[in-house]
Order: sequence, then C-alpha cells, then structure tokens
Amino acid sequence: MAQSLLTRRSAILGFAGATLAGTALAPPLGARAAFNLELEPPLRNHTRTSGIRYGCAGAAPNVQSDRILLEKFAIEANIFVPESSLKWNATEPLPGKFDFSEGDSIATFAARNAMLMHGHTLVWYTAIPDWVANLTTGQEAQAALERHISTEVARYRRKIWAWDVVNEPIEPDDRLIDDHRNSVWLRCLGPAYIDLSFRLARAADPQVPLCLSEYGIEYVGTKPQRRRASLLALLRKLREQNTPVDCLALQSHLEAHQSFDHAELTGFLREVVKLGYRLLITELDVNDCKILGSIEQRDRVTARHLAEYLDIVFSVAKPLSIATWGLSDRSTWLKQYWKRADGSPLRPLPLDADLNRKPLWAVLARYLTGQERQPT
Ligand code: XIL
Repeated sequence: MAQSLLTRRSAILGFAGATLAGTALAPPLGARAAFNLELEPPLRNHTRTSGIRYGCAGAAPNVQSDRILLEKFAIEANIFVPESSLKWNATEPLPGKFDFSEGDSIATFAARNAMLMHGHTLVWYTAIPDWVANLTTGQEAQAALERHISTEVARYRRKIWAWDVVNEPIEPDDRLIDDHRNSVWLRCLGPAYIDLSFRLARAADPQVPLCLSEYGIEYVGTKPQRRRASLLALLRKLREQNTPVDCLALQSHLEAHQSFDHAELTGFLREVVKLGYRLLITELDVNDCKILGSIEQRDRVTARHLAEYLDIVFSVAKPLSIATWGLSDRSTWLKQYWKRADGSPLRPLPLDADLNRKPLWAVLARYLTGQERQPT
C-alpha cells in the first residue's frame, strides 16, 4: 500500500529518480571567493543535471515596473512564483467574480521564458477579501472553497507545476485544537477544511503535485519544537485519511542570528519523507537584521547560515526545487517588518540591490548542482 502510494506520487511528480553523478568536493570558501560569480552559469542551468529547479517569487509582469529585475528572473530561474497574484484577495475579490489578470500575465511570461509557474496559494488565513473573512457557516465556507479551488486550479491546469493548497495551517500561539491556526476555515469547517481543500484541488487537476506549506520549524526553542511536532502530527493524520497531499513546502524564511536544531530538524524531515512526502523549499530568504559588521561580514554569515540549512535538508532528501522569496535585495517583503539598528538595508536574497550575485547566490549554485550533499 505504502509502496503503491509512493509510486503513484512519484509518477505525479514526474520524478525520474535521477541518480547523482558522483560527489564533487566543494572548494574552500577562500578559493571560491576568487571566482567571478558573474561568469558562472545561471542557477536554472543546473536543473538539467540535478533535476532541482530554481524559482523566484515576484510581482506579475503586468504590474511590475522593474523590467530589469524581471529580465533577471528569466535568466536565473525556471519557476516563477506569484508573490501575491494568486492569493484569494487578488483572484476572487467578490463572490464568483474572478480576476486572473495578474496570474495570466505570469503564465504568459513564464511560457515565453521556458519557466514553470508555482501555485501560491489557494487556502490561507489571510490575504482574503472581507466577504470570505465574514463567512459564518460550514455550508457557506464549503461552497466558497469548492468554487474557488475548482475555478483557479482548472484555469492553470498544465501551467502550474505544484500548488500550495493550504498555507500555514499551524499556529501554536492560537491555542486551539492540535495547534491549528485560527482561521475562517477552521471556525466554519473545523480541521476537516484541510482534507476538503486537497480533495477539491485533486479533483480539479489529477496530475499536479499538491503541497502543504508551513514556516517556523528550523530553529531551537519551544515554539519551533511545538510547530514541528504539530505539523508532523497533521501530516500523519492526512496520510491516514488518504488526503491527496504530495509534498511539504518548507517556506524557509531563515534568520541568520538563530541556531538550527540540527537533530530535531533532521529527525522531523526524515519522518516527513518516511510518510511519503516530497520536499520543496519554497520561500527562502535569510534575514540579516541582527547580524553586525561590514557588508562582507554579513554576507559571509548569511551564506554560511544558508549552507548549514541546505546541508540538513539535503542530508535527508534532495528537494524538488529551491525558490527564493524575491531575487534581489532591492525588493524584499522583509523590509515591511524588519529594520536594522544601523539603518542599512537588509541583504536577504541572492542578488544585491544592483543585481550583482552575492555569496548567497554562490551557495545556491553549489546545492542546485545536487552534488554538494546526498541523503545519508
Ligand atoms: C507576503 C508577500 O511577500 C508580501 O508582499 C505581502 O504583503 C504579504 O505576504 N509567507 C507566505 C507568503 O506564504 O505568501 C508571504 O508573502 C510571506 C510569508
């Protein structure tokens, strides 16, 4: 049974089970600094050999004024992640009145540039219009989910390579049953909203991999520990119910001043993989808000932090993709929430504000080859 589930899922994911061609020893950090990063091939080129795709989140081309940034997207990435364009408030602002102008603009851009599109996201507690936030009964909520999921998933069938169906279902601080996050969905339908959402997505597209996406599971501390435990319990329950979830999307909003819980995170990921889920890294950035020192020192710390993280993930399983939440430091969502004490801008992404490749880019390039670390 477990075997046939895995086989079916592997087929859905189009996973050829490509073997890795030997392990190249990474040059020491000093030697790597001598490389001219600008002469290295773009990140998307590594997919051919490793099978791992590289994606970036950003605004839709029809509302993006930064054309040069957009060009860089197409050069470096082979997945375009709509940062906000497919969220409910953008696609169904009024009941039954759909607006796919931004999503379609991304789909066209992606097709032109031989990119795939990641589906982010169908069911979330936030980025919903008032009419959704104000739903009060199970019947209304179910009808809304049915119409929304079937319409949006059907529209992008064969254009989207994986969907984040349910985003951020866990929040221990809400102190609700099994650490479920308080949301209009939970209030109207109870925890069953998750199973329902995945079944609706699967019905609308039998082929596309379906992901559950979560954050906040990487570090030491009681809260991350609780998130890991509750997320694992949820993933187990979904397997038992035969809910059609294929992948866990690790958002991976990293914070360079925090410490990874190596043992717990590794153990957690192993259990997830044992349950038959594939892993994706979907919203990577490395917040350097509390890292002191010169730009070079900060970049070194964030690059090491990312390598430490990818080492843990790759030691368990090769992710299907790595997507960063943005491409260049000139445009990062973190700016809205975090300020450095010295007033200088954050540097959480692979390219700097002038679109030059940074040490973070070099770490991504190393892991995207698929040869840096192999599951043990
Ligand atoms: C963020 C966008 O980047 C912001 O522009 C927006 O204001 C809020 O949402 N986790 C998610 C993403 O799943 O959808 C969030 O995106 C970042 C955190």
